[in-house]
Amino acid sequence: MLSVGRSWGDDAARLVRVDDEGLINEMDDRARWNQRYEAAEDTDSPPAVVAQLLPLLPSSGQALDVAGGRGTTSAAMAELGLDVTLVDVSDVALVRVADRARRLGLVISTERHDLRADGLPEGRWDVICCFHYLDRDLLPQMADALNRGGLLAIAIATRTNLERRSRPSAAHLLEDGELAAFAESRSDLEILSYNEGWNEHDRHEAELFARRV
Ligand SMILES: C[S@@+](CC[C@H](N)C(=O)[O-])C[C@H]1O[C@@H](n2cnc3c(N)ncnc32)[C@H](O)[C@@H]1O
Repeated sequence: MLSVGRSWGDDAARLVRVDDEGLINEMDDRARWNQRYEAAEDTDSPPAVVAQLLPLLPSSGQALDVAGGRGTTSAAMAELGLDVTLVDVSDVALVRVADRARRLGLVISTERHDLRADGLPEGRWDVICCFHYLDRDLLPQMADALNRGGLLAIAIATRTNLERRSRPSAAHLLEDGELAAFAESRSDLEILSYNEGWNEHDRHEAELFARRV
């Protein structure tokens, strides 16, 4: 038998289903990611791809960290002097971002935003990064939202990742070659670098760095 309950505050309330053993079967992105972040230790380590991002970044301008989670990438960009906005659906993540920014003496603007429901937030950006979050509708939106000369950085695991890891599930994985095909389809993007393969964390990822021309 399934029962229903509400999750994470009135304004976010969506029905979730709880089975006989009390297990939640369906949750919206906000509830799911809040729960994950509540259960996980915080970390100051940015994703591995940030080491490749940093040398390409300008030291000023507007940067958008899409589904930026706990803000480790945002912190690295803010340290360089960029004016950073992080959007994410998880309020718990955004609290961690605020704590991190305060502790490091950085300014990071945050916006709780459901990218799946509402798309990319308004704005034009000099840098957009999107690491480990897949929403195919966002790919063209991110390219469109870049200022001329702006940098697009994307790293997302591909389907081959399933050969060694069961998570993320297929719904959250790019097809092999998909990100390259997207970049090549855009005449307004100059590809600076593209890699697809196993990284040092044993994740099979596609990594794109491109400039809006
Ligand atoms: C795997 S984490 C990646 C976090 C960060 N970009 C990184 O690479 O460390 C995926 C992120 O996507 C966010 N997310 C999931 N669904 C979302 C949605 N519908 N709208 C906005 N953010 C979402 C989660 O809260 C989480 O922070």
